[in-house]
Amino acid sequence: MNNFTYYTPTKVVFGKDSETQVGILLQEFSATKILLHYGGESAKRSGLLSRIETILTETGIAYVTLGGVKPNPRLSLIYEGIDLCKKESVDFILAVGGGSVIDSAKAIGYGVANEGDVWDFYSRKRTASACLPIGAILTIAAAGSEMSNSSVITNEDGWLKRGYKSDFARCKFAIMNPELTYTLPEYQTASGCVDIMMHTMERYFNQSENMLLTDGISEHLMRTVMKSAKRLKKDPENYAARAEVMWASSLSHNGLTGCGTDGGDWAAHQLEHELGGMFDVAHGAGLAAIWGSWARYVYKEHPVRFAQFAVKVHKIAASSKDLHAIPKDELDILALAGIKAMEHFYHAIGMPTSLQELGIDVTDEQIEELAEKCSFNQTRTIGVIKKLDKADMIAIFTAAR
Ligand code: NZQ
Ligand code: ZN
Repeated sequence: MNNFTYYTPTKVVFGKDSETQVGILLQEFSATKILLHYGGESAKRSGLLSRIETILTETGIAYVTLGGVKPNPRLSLIYEGIDLCKKESVDFILAVGGGSVIDSAKAIGYGVANEGDVWDFYSRKRTASACLPIGAILTIAAAGSEMSNSSVITNEDGWLKRGYKSDFARCKFAIMNPELTYTLPEYQTASGCVDIMMHTMERYFNQSENMLLTDGISEHLMRTVMKSAKRLKKDPENYAARAEVMWASSLSHNGLTGCGTDGGDWAAHQLEHELGGMFDVAHGAGLAAIWGSWARYVYKEHPVRFAQFAVKVHKIAASSKDLHAIPKDELDILALAGIKAMEHFYHAIGMPTSLQELGIDVTDEQIEELAEKCSFNQTRTIGVIKKLDKADMIAIFTAAR
């Protein structure tokens, strides 16, 4: 097991009606004037937003609102939010929504608390030294931003989707009422489940050894999400399944499943972020479309790990409990069977396993552009299981067509 730091300072308030505690929580974190930040129509339509506004008024907390966050949140709205917060002397941001709204809130928070252009942090020109405090009321289980230290935003100038990590932006609190996710379209529920699993899978596929506990947590989390995702396809208002998935979304990305793993791979995420930037696809669906091609491209670098995934997560039988004792040919067969089983699961919940199924018809020129951007103009490689350069990225995008 590698050395690690596990830091997860977010206060979680979980369960039915938990959003009614938002006033008390804001007071606990000394909020006096808040930005109520939200997405398109869903929070308005469900009545959640007006219930929150009533609580704010009753608690005597002043607020201004900024809605309109789109999936793959845009830099232009973030600039608007920064100006608004400065003009109104906002001292706390309340994000009501999913990963996109929370990430937009984090970027606004950086922009208010630091001088200069906030995009500098996402383009790796400099690092932030502070962030406005943020709280979240989660309405979709997916990105895990409610407990993660990262945020991902899209600059319309060049359609670059870039992430930035810093503990300054970790949410002070996250309110999670699984019932708030009943109104999600089936596609978003499924896409969210893919992302949740992928946050653990990215950490699971690593070159480390001796992580019995972390592996066990990860494998159980993945199996729980698969079971719950299938249940939700038939029964979207199943509270137990919604609750499992919501809690998994946070645990999958708050660092727990990465303890001792030396960070994980993250190549599939980097590849998907380019798809999100260029084609504006749902993040989880984009991951499902690319993952199988990535996995087939890299599994020979660590067949035991992929075989373990097949045996422990997909319950595929192996000839020995000791995977290190299994002949190489059988390891390869197991690894490929695990990848196939994962794709079978994606199809079972209505997710794509290719770019075509994702609904995008990518040309050779676009693949070249995706890889050029993903390699930061050929200045970086991605991935840990196998380091991938621009040529590898082109091969994976091409295989995913
Ligand atoms: O805008 P509204 O109308 O609210 O509709 C949203 C949106 O269209 C809808 N929705 C959310 N809650 C709903 C609902 N519809 C009905 N009922 C509800 N209760 O769902 C759609 C997707 O919302 P979004 O916030 O985009 O989803 P998600 O949580 O999947 O976030 C995706 C973004 O997070 C980034 C992704 O790249 C993407 O930009 N990620 C953020 C991470 C992080 N900060 O740690 C890590 C992830 O790997 C990911 O990259
Ligand atoms: Zn993700």
